[in-house]
Amino acid sequence: MKMVIAYTRHEAFEPIRMELLELGFPSLSISEVKGSGRQKGITEHYRGSSVTNYLRPKIKIECVVADKDVQTIVDTVLKHARTGSIGDGKVFISSIEEAIRIRTEEKGDEAL
Ligand SMILES: Nc1ncnc2c1ncn2[C@@H]1O[C@H](COP(=O)(O)OP(=O)(O)OP(=O)(O)O)[C@@H](O)[C@H]1O
Ligand SMILES: [Mg+2]
Repeated sequence: MKMVIAYTRHEAFEPIRMELLELGFPSLSISEVKGSGRQKGITEHYRGSSVTNYLRPKIKIECVVADKDVQTIVDTVLKHARTGSIGDGKVFISSIEEAIRIRTEEKGDEAL
């Protein structure tokens, strides 16, 4: 099993969620996070003073799937999150050792 972790713009989440649902992946978690990437921040100018926001709001999506499904999840995220502009986000993939459905004690892929 793998966990796909994606940091995306807020606008990208709903299309990603809908397509994952249609593809048979209804299970995921999200959180609203703040982060910075290579640009480190955005400076806005207002009447002579400038304010730099070092952290930008992002949606963090966590989706644990069987190894064979990782590419489908990644492709779906890329399809909806890429605008070509800076700040589109990033995807990380990590290994998950075990999953257990609490209600039934099903384990591994069966629990997803
Ligand atoms: N190495 C990282 N570790 C943890 N979180 C990260 C990392 N890189 C990016 N993020 C998260 O992803 C969000 C979006 O990153 P962002 O798309 O700006 O990356 P970037 O490397 O600056 O690429 P780009 O040049 O396309 O903007 C960040 O605000 C942060 O929440
Ligand atoms: Mg950036």
